Amino acid sequence: MTENLATLIGKRGPIRTIGVIGMGYVGIPAAALFADVPHFEHVYGFQRDSASSGYKINMLNRGESPLKGEEPGLEELLGKVVGAGKFSCTADFSKIAECDAVTLAIQTPFKDKKDLLPDFTPLIEGLRNVGRHLTPGMLVVLESTITPGTTAGMAREILEGESGLVAGKDFALAHAPERVMVGRLLRNIREHDRIVGGIDEVSTARAVELYSPVLTAGTVIPMTATAAEVTKTAENTFRDLQIAAVNQLALYCEAMGINVYDVRAGVASLKGEGITRAILWPGAGVGGHCLTKDTYHLERGVQVLGGELDFPAGRESLYTLARGINDFMPEHMLRLTESGLAQVGKTLKGSKIALLGWAFINDSDDARNTPAEPFRDAALAAGAEVRVHDPWVDPATSPDAPPGLSRDLAGVLSGADAVVVFAGHKEYRGLVPAEVRRLCGYERPVIVDGRNIVDPDAFVAAGFIYKGIGRGDKNTYSVT
Ligand SMILES: NC(=O)c1ccc[n+]([C@@H]2O[C@H](COP(=O)([O-])OP(=O)(O)OC[C@H]3O[C@@H](n4cnc5c(N)ncnc54)[C@H](O)[C@@H]3O)[C@@H](O)[C@H]2O)c1
Repeated sequence: MTENLATLIGKRGPIRTIGVIGMGYVGIPAAALFADVPHFEHVYGFQRDSASSGYKINMLNRGESPLKGEEPGLEELLGKVVGAGKFSCTADFSKIAECDAVTLAIQTPFKDKKDLLPDFTPLIEGLRNVGRHLTPGMLVVLESTITPGTTAGMAREILEGESGLVAGKDFALAHAPERVMVGRLLRNIREHDRIVGGIDEVSTARAVELYSPVLTAGTVIPMTATAAEVTKTAENTFRDLQIAAVNQLALYCEAMGINVYDVRAGVASLKGEGITRAILWPGAGVGGHCLTKDTYHLERGVQVLGGELDFPAGRESLYTLARGINDFMPEHMLRLTESGLAQVGKTLKGSKIALLGWAFINDSDDARNTPAEPFRDAALAAGAEVRVHDPWVDPATSPDAPPGLSRDLAGVLSGADAVVVFAGHKEYRGLVPAEVRRLCGYERPVIVDGRNIVDPDAFVAAGFIYKGIGRGDKNTYSVT
């Protein structure tokens, strides 16, 4: 089988033309970096002309990045590769047929977490388009995060069904998961090791040829497609688990009247050969496209691949339990807000809340699955008035911007009974307590810090009731 594929690839020669399907946080930097490789001749960014994302096509063809957070080097690189004629974006999927290699970087959210049902509709549409224009000897790589078993299962079936070609015989197929974090997309792609898993050795080798030229510090780690799928979903599951561990510790520290950040510094100080505590940071919750769903892809993989699982009967998986703890943090933020208000004789009902930071990452416009949203909804349900401020999320273009999102900080703070910090944006780090209090207009406003970015003593000295995640040392401060 693979001998035929090796011959077809040999006839085709080195990879010259590349297609990247899905122009989002993952696809745009990947396409720009491929286009910057001297021996890759042209890269097509394929973006469907949808109501929410179609605008990206013209922007990218002007060399502008539609990602609005700080992405060092991205705008410059796009300008360079568009100017050199090496990158163009299109909704014309027939151009896939011109490509030697096609990668898919399409969103893979979850429809129903409880029943472990992913929404693969956009990915299926993308795979169908690739299948329709697949040519012998082409390489297809899934970069999206997917349920283990998807590359060699669903993706193979769709590609074969649409093309009439056979994976591993007529075309190469692999999974090379993206391991980037918003805010450092280019650096991460260049410097992180790249997991590359083909459905066979020829597919893996062709995918290694595609990714090696963009790596500066990272190296390629080859494995099977299914092992690559498990690696990706497990690495995010572990990160979520580590955040849950420190969030639970933060809740304990609050109950025990101590500062979780002191404990964190103490635990992290233990270093030495074989010692890895790797303690992360607690906070107001976990958001984004990845950590909120990848645990469910991993859990579902066990079902999809159908193996027998030996596990304590009736006990929830450690990973989904961790998800539940992280999902609880916005609710805890509301309890802190409620208890702060109670100290000055107020209730959530009728109070005005200034919610600062809608994006889930500091200094970024990425607001997907933001933990600020369940907080806002619960506060509204309790009868509070909530005004949201974020200097990064664009109310005009972000599909995740809430109605009424404001960029006027003074206006949002004006008349607020409680100021609730959900994101550690740099704009909030310099908040001047006396100025915030003046804008709130109360003798004793409440401040709730979900990211430990304000100085509790300075706010208390200025008259605030302070509450903070993990700040058991300060949360018990009583009003005299
Ligand atoms: N955002 C991250 O930091 C990150 C990191 C690692 C992995 N991932 C994974 O990478 C994948 C993509 O994530 P993202 O953040 O780039 O998503 P995104 O939503 O930012 O981008 C996806 C893009 O694909 C487009 N699209 C959807 N269906 C299409 C189709 N059929 N044809 C052409 N275009 C289509 C969308 O319109 C959108 O522009 C997901 O599986 C995600 O879990 C994301």
